[in-house]
Amino acid sequence: MTVTIKTPEEQDKMRVAGQLAADVLDMIGDYVKPGVTTDELDTICHKFITEEQDAIPAPLNYRGFPKSICTSVNHVVCHGIPGEKRLKAGDAVNIDITVIKDGFHGDTSRMFMVGKENIQARRLADITFQAMWRGIEELGEGKHLGDVGASIQQFVEKNRFSVVKEYCGHGIGRVFHEDPQVLHYGTRGTGMQLKAGMTLTVEPMVNAGKAGVRLLPDGWTVVTKDHSLSAQWEHTILVTETGYEVLTLGAADR
Ligand code: MF3
Ligand code: CO
Ligand code: CO
Repeated sequence: MTVTIKTPEEQDKMRVAGQLAADVLDMIGDYVKPGVTTDELDTICHKFITEEQDAIPAPLNYRGFPKSICTSVNHVVCHGIPGEKRLKAGDAVNIDITVIKDGFHGDTSRMFMVGKENIQARRLADITFQAMWRGIEELGEGKHLGDVGASIQQFVEKNRFSVVKEYCGHGIGRVFHEDPQVLHYGTRGTGMQLKAGMTLTVEPMVNAGKAGVRLLPDGWTVVTKDHSLSAQWEHTILVTETGYEVLTLGAADR
């Protein structure tokens, strides 16, 4: 187990990387319209990251992932591969952006509604967003990771949805996925105690139906076993002495 504590200089680099990742999501929103393919969204993000931000899209070639962003539509839980399928009105898509700038990673995702919103998808996305924030609000020096998971799980299940257990948040820095694992379920007062200077993600995946997931033969795409809708939001966060600093806030939230 190798949890890294970031120095003040490293924290500054994480702030920059986090901001750039959020900027990509702010930029791409206007393009998420009926008729666009997820490949087209990938190309727009790739160009923006490499040409405008002079940064690196971390997913590209990461363990063989073939694209620069993840696009997870409707019942896809996470790690959807951009392709030629066109988005249609009523679809809900998670776009997950990770950029590397000056050696450090920023990782964030949001839900986007395509055209006229599906009411169920909207509600699932809203509950998942609130669940992520309940988890984030537990962060701080001395807090247990179990507090984060418990807070998320309790809120999700109170709303009769289910938390995906197979995938979790993670430490992040020079390395895309580092220790600790940040589970989105758990028990208060258990798990690692946090220290100021840690950077990690909180990124709950929530299913409208049962919690079970299945990996498609492409080796990446994760779907709900029961084909119910799934939603996810993600922020990269710095743990501080007094609590937390969210490094991937969008323009509307800063
Ligand atoms: N961005 C994802 C995460 O939140 C990881 C994507 S890995 C990829 O951790 F290879 F699929 F891009
Ligand atoms: Co992540
Ligand atoms: Co991500």
